[in-house]
Amino acid sequence: MPKKLFIKTYGCQMNVYDSERMAEAMVAEGYVTTDAAEEADMVVLNTCHIREKAAEKVYSDLGRLRPLKAAKPDLKIGVAGCVAQAEGAEILARMPIVDLVVGPQSYHRLPAMARAAERGEKSVDTDFPEEDKFDHLPDRPAATLRPTAFLTVQEGCDKFCAFCVVPYTRGSEVSRPAERILREARVLADKGVREITLLGQNVNAYHGAGTDGGDWSLARLVRELARIDGLDRIRYTTSHPNDMADDLIAAHGDEPKLMPYLHLPVQSGSDRILKAMNRRHSAESYMRLVERIRAARPDIVLSGDFIVGFPGETETDFAATMDLIRAVNYGMAYSFKYSARPGTPAAERTPVPAGIADARLQALQALVTEQQRACQQAMVGREVTVLFEKPGRLPGQMVGKSDYLHAVHAATETPAGTIAKVRITASAPNSLAGTVV
Ligand code: 5AD
Ligand code: SF4
Repeated sequence: MPKKLFIKTYGCQMNVYDSERMAEAMVAEGYVTTDAAEEADMVVLNTCHIREKAAEKVYSDLGRLRPLKAAKPDLKIGVAGCVAQAEGAEILARMPIVDLVVGPQSYHRLPAMARAAERGEKSVDTDFPEEDKFDHLPDRPAATLRPTAFLTVQEGCDKFCAFCVVPYTRGSEVSRPAERILREARVLADKGVREITLLGQNVNAYHGAGTDGGDWSLARLVRELARIDGLDRIRYTTSHPNDMADDLIAAHGDEPKLMPYLHLPVQSGSDRILKAMNRRHSAESYMRLVERIRAARPDIVLSGDFIVGFPGETETDFAATMDLIRAVNYGMAYSFKYSARPGTPAAERTPVPAGIADARLQALQALVTEQQRACQQAMVGREVTVLFEKPGRLPGQMVGKSDYLHAVHAATETPAGTIAKVRITASAPNSLAGTVV
């Protein structure tokens, strides 16, 4: 009987991608994956350190695994991801049930660490190794791929926003060479993937070695990827406003495979707070950028990230954030209450009282929900293209994503992996309904 692996993923899309690659490495080792922790021989928690809540959740989940390990002493438990990177061996001290701790840059060594765990040896690997983990991972297997896939092109961040742990946990910015990315994309396309989302903590800062010897920008990379037959849609996330280069904006205007959706976090609409956050841009420069992007691609849907209750945020600062949201009109937005993170500059500052931050978060979320609904409602009656991904909840139904990243369901026999024109007929809170034309 093959051994069973259960992976739980916390946090961002980078972690989703890393979990897939870890699972594939373990499958190459003879494991099979399972969705049930109780039947697993090995459990890996791929963790997130971005906010305190996410980081602490790992410890409560590990606590919940204690009885399982007691009943099944051979069960191996691993902690991967950003908490692993940030806390390393401390995790073993705090949670003796853990067998291995592996950071986001060294998980190609997970199979060897699992073998060590089998021999009863615990291990911690939070290196930033010389070798590239991607060179030591198996090619992506067709069996687990869906019509849409993630592809990491850049990792780490040099921006040092005052609230953020990413520069510490994921390290400084590194771009993968274009040749490797193109190769991975061709493998994906050959296996039926029709859409890829290029991932990076600072993806638009991409500046990898090109196949012609020069440094390539993200726009250049996108244009080369667009030449791959069978690959029909390209997206990228997450971007920093200051790295939104002219060539990338231009690509939104004239590269048909680049989808009209852009996640462009601004965090706050107050210049005072932006400065305190070390964002190095103003609300006004962000607005001008948005105008330029919309001039290139008028129908683009924008999404953003916001932090409320950053230390020093006053009612006036918060009102400026609300004004910016009204001015931009987002199709989607993610908002968070500020969470002090160990080792970051902002963690030393006096926090905004929790009650005030909660109230601001509620008000902000009400506004973006309204904008989100309006954006969806505006799709009704329009024709969009949908990449169908899987059967829907009802029989005879398929679901997929529109060019604008809205979930769309339609009554159709169209197989997964098909891109079809769909006329949108209705908008529900989190999805659209339509008919294939
Ligand atoms: N507290 C709250 N939100 C945070 N984010 C990053 N760090 C923190 C923090 N310390 C948010 C930012 C970022 C998103 C991924 O998470 O909005 O864009
Ligand atoms: Fe964190 Fe993004 Fe700022 Fe980098 S740019 S420090 S990842 S919020």
